[in-house]
Amino acid sequence: VVVRTITYRRLGPDDAGEVLTVQRAAFVAEGRLYGNFDIPPLVESLEQVGHELGTTVMTGAFDGARLVGSIRVTKDGDLGWISRISVAPDQQGRGIGAGLIAAAEEDLPPGIRRLQLSAGAKSAANIVMYERRGYEVFSRASDPAGVEMVLMGKDLPPAG
Ligand SMILES: CC(C)(COP(=O)(O)OP(=O)(O)OC[C@H]1O[C@@H](n2cnc3c(N)ncnc32)[C@H](O)[C@@H]1OP(=O)(O)O)[C@@H](O)C(=O)NCCC(=O)NCCS
Repeated sequence: VVVRTITYRRLGPDDAGEVLTVQRAAFVAEGRLYGNFDIPPLVESLEQVGHELGTTVMTGAFDGARLVGSIRVTKDGDLGWISRISVAPDQQGRGIGAGLIAAAEEDLPPGIRRLQLSAGAKSAANIVMYERRGYEVFSRASDPAGVEMVLMGKDLPPAG
């Protein structure tokens, strides 16, 4: 039996190519679910991912040298927006997505008092995954591709 340890670390602009590859592979399933492959995680360009890596906090999950997942946190005042949670298709269901959320929540930019994210309204497993981690649906919206999303959030305890 081979037990592999997943390590989590912040990513930088040099990781853009691998992040884009894992993100696109992961989100094809969402595209299929919605019959829409123009959703933002699938149309984002290499240049945009590189820009995001320079301006937001992104955390990667590594199995050895291989990037197997990533997550993004964008600071907007005292709000932190979580997005692009992606796990390579062959690595899903092993706890890496849960590990990415935990790693991101432990390594937030300073001054964030509330976390928010959007999830596809039909993506029941994702919504339940966030609910188990304390996120609650507070609103609904459409993404730029016209896919119906739920907005979820949770307040963070004041820093002690
Ligand atoms: C969503 C995603 C990041 C989860 O990553 P993962 O590594 O497969 O998830 P984990 O193994 O850590 O499981 C997390 C939780 O979801 C549950 N889960 C995972 N896959 C599931 C499935 N197909 N059906 C139901 N529950 C599932 C697990 O049981 C676990 O439950 P817990 O809340 O009790 O811990 C991954 O499936 C993915 O990349 N999906 C495509 C992109 C996407 O939809 N991103 C999120 C957009 S909002």
